[in-house]
Amino acid sequence: MKTAAKPFLKWAGGKGQLLSQLDQHLPRNLSEGEFTYIEPFVGGGAMLFYMLQKYPNIKRAVINDINLYLIKAYQVIRDTPQGLIERLLELENQYYTSCGDETKKAFFLKARTIFNESDLDDIDRTKYLIFLNRTCFNGLYRVNAKGKFNVPFGRYKNPTICNSDIILADSKLLNSVELVIMNGDFEHTVEHIGDGFNFFYFDPPYRPLNATSSFNSYAKEEFDDREQIRLRNYCAMLSELPNVKWMLSNADCSAKNPEDTFFENLYNDFSINRVQASRAINANPSKRGKLTELLIKNYD
Ligand SMILES: C[S@@+](CC[C@H](N)C(=O)[O-])C[C@H]1O[C@@H](n2cnc3c(N)ncnc32)[C@H](O)[C@@H]1O
Repeated sequence: MKTAAKPFLKWAGGKGQLLSQLDQHLPRNLSEGEFTYIEPFVGGGAMLFYMLQKYPNIKRAVINDINLYLIKAYQVIRDTPQGLIERLLELENQYYTSCGDETKKAFFLKARTIFNESDLDDIDRTKYLIFLNRTCFNGLYRVNAKGKFNVPFGRYKNPTICNSDIILADSKLLNSVELVIMNGDFEHTVEHIGDGFNFFYFDPPYRPLNATSSFNSYAKEEFDDREQIRLRNYCAMLSELPNVKWMLSNADCSAKNPEDTFFENLYNDFSINRVQASRAINANPSKRGKLTELLIKNYD
């Protein structure tokens, strides 16, 4: 059976569970005519892979993230999937021949040091990124104040490190469109708006529901309320442009605390909807239950 393209990394905030609900909120008639799909906070790309498969009429796609190594991984998967698979299989083999938990942990720590301290070509960089993602605790990508990856060993029994079918399916799909891959701040994506219709999906770091529940350290720069406001201003600016529609996900802060109407105030000119979410990444299992999330749009 043909493998479907899907995220090659686990990523905090991954949208895998939400895709069918997000689809229901897409603009009507999206299947008609070519368009440009733009994802300024692409992360693991669950929505990207979904959109490219469901809407083959996407002519161009523009993806961006502030995480340089994540962006290099998209480039490697698009351009040199075979080279990546070869090196990843070799690393996987070395890992599996190191017996016992302690030896595996030492292997992980060594790989983490290489990832943090060494000059690597893009294929090796991506190889270690995928390896660490499969073997670290909860598949998180988290960095310390110096920007070093610092997630501990995950102690999984038999993690699949190299999923060649997914890498090849992703590569094929990424090559099926004109793809612009960018690394930087979300605001730069406006420079790549196409002539026809453009659809943006924003999945920024979520605003914390409370001071301790937050997982926000994707990058060494924090995404605080000032950043949320900057993003809203950017969305408002996009709304003034012809042929642009956007949809944006964020945490439903007022469901947790009715007095916290931060997003209701910020996006009062737009359409605010709620979808059911189950958070996969939370160190505390009791907090993995159902939650609502906001889905804000500049159309009905
Ligand atoms: C919630 S995640 C996206 C999840 C993703 N949609 C998925 O399905 O896995 C947010 C992403 O925003 C990125 N990010 C943080 N600040 C940014 C900025 N100023 N500009 C662009 N990307 C940023 C992070 O590196 C992270 O990958």
